[in-house]
Amino acid sequence: MNSDIALQYTDKILDSIADQLVERGYAILEQQIDAQLLTLLRQRALSFSEEHWRDAGIGREQRFQLDKKVRSDKIHWLNTSNSVETAYLTLMANLKQGLNRRLFMGLYDFESHFSIYQQGQFYNKHIDALKGRSNRVLSTVLYLNECWQEDDAGQLLLYNQEGNKIIETVAPKLGTMIIFLSEKFPHQVLAANCRRYSIAGWYRVNASQSGLIDPAE
Ligand code: OGA
Ligand code: MN
Repeated sequence: MNSDIALQYTDKILDSIADQLVERGYAILEQQIDAQLLTLLRQRALSFSEEHWRDAGIGREQRFQLDKKVRSDKIHWLNTSNSVETAYLTLMANLKQGLNRRLFMGLYDFESHFSIYQQGQFYNKHIDALKGRSNRVLSTVLYLNECWQEDDAGQLLLYNQEGNKIIETVAPKLGTMIIFLSEKFPHQVLAANCRRYSIAGWYRVNASQSGLIDPAE
């Protein structure tokens, strides 16, 4: 892969993300990721054939449930056997380090998957971590849709902690990223009118730090 691709955020961007997280619990970035990397990630998402995409579950892997009424997207977990996926994981490791240095968040590891929402598919209102039940602390979503138009829908709605007020509507445009505290923000994906690609990811704290006896139970 081209070695010119930037796999680090600048200090200025890291400062801005940290400030936004402290002030309001979430950060929205536009066009802060290397354009070549975005293109490669988009191409990677588009390259998966039908059988590469898996039905998305709900809850922890051990309690894997499928409920098409809650979410109907399909997913593909990132791993280091592919150079493009590795590049994204490297960038996200840089973000982890940048936030740990600034906010002492104790972010420990990161897991993420590509998602595809076909026309009409959605993800109902949910939170990524139930208080005290999960070691997911920070959620990230990067969007990979070139030429997104209002009519394409599929926006992400971010709610206040009580879940009764929409505080942000995020268009899933190529290069837009949202980062938010996993326990604090209910969110939902409106039905998309055409294929919608994203990469959702979660930083977790070390299980022994989150006060759980056996988080894998
Ligand atoms: C998720 C999620 C949001 C999106 O996968 O948990 O909320 O906009 N995704 O793709
Ligand atoms: Mn979510």
